[in-house]
Amino acid sequence: MKPVGAITRGTTNPNRLRRVDNFIAYRCGRLLTEAARPLVIDLGYGATPVTAVELRSRLAAAVRSDVAVVGLEIDPVRVSGAQPFADPPWLEFRRGGFELAGLAPVVVRAFNVLRQYAEDEVAAAWRAMTATGALLIEGTCDELGRIATWAVVEDGVPTTLTLSARLPTLEHPAVFAERLPKALIHHNVPGHPVHELLRALGRAWETEATPFGPRQRWTATVRRLRDEGRPVLDGPARWRLGELTVPWPRP
Ligand SMILES: C[S@@+](CC[C@H](N)C(=O)[O-])C[C@H]1O[C@@H](n2cnc3c(N)ncnc32)[C@H](O)[C@@H]1O
Repeated sequence: MKPVGAITRGTTNPNRLRRVDNFIAYRCGRLLTEAARPLVIDLGYGATPVTAVELRSRLAAAVRSDVAVVGLEIDPVRVSGAQPFADPPWLEFRRGGFELAGLAPVVVRAFNVLRQYAEDEVAAAWRAMTATGALLIEGTCDELGRIATWAVVEDGVPTTLTLSARLPTLEHPAVFAERLPKALIHHNVPGHPVHELLRALGRAWETEATPFGPRQRWTATVRRLRDEGRPVLDGPARWRLGELTVPWPRP
């Protein structure tokens, strides 16, 4: 089977995906716990497999010890380079693309992959990665993982958008604009729902400048958004982590 996709830059970093890993344990924990074969694919792990290694150890600690992670890479050099980190059957590295190399995972994490594709390639990639029924977490973050955004995609359709920031270093939520998923980044212009969302978030952040520190400020910001009537899907326990999940702002 020929892997579907194209080799792109392999930039990655230890701990870069900790924010989304925490979300996966929370959002997909039950799915994984109830699965007969709790398989998770890390699609496009990059030049080194460090974030796949971390995903396996975080899910094993937080969800179930027998969770299996397969890192898929379209670049064969990166697949060979990752083999010393394999720990079968818990952690393996194989060549594959959006077709998922014939595997049927429960969850797919694809981070900083689609940002290097054209926007009109996104829908087909989403469909391919969810074709066997997996829940897809597809997103983007900065080099150190301090600012991240991701979509949850089911049956090829995005259902939610999550914004997540390391609060002590967050100066203003406007920084999310340059880290939006590929499907939204070109639609952050007046009149589009994602633009309205970021504007409202920015206004609420400016209004809630409290002396109590960034965690309280973010919590008050999200509460204000919710009180203004915007649909906020998560609650204070997630807000305290610097997260906000909303229905997908369809362009
Ligand atoms: C920027 S790296 C991301 C590494 C890691 N996921 C992270 O967020 O730090 C993107 C990787 O995705 C790989 N890639 C791109 N398209 C792919 C596809 N269709 N299937 C599998 N891997 C792919 C590239 O070869 C590259 O190594």
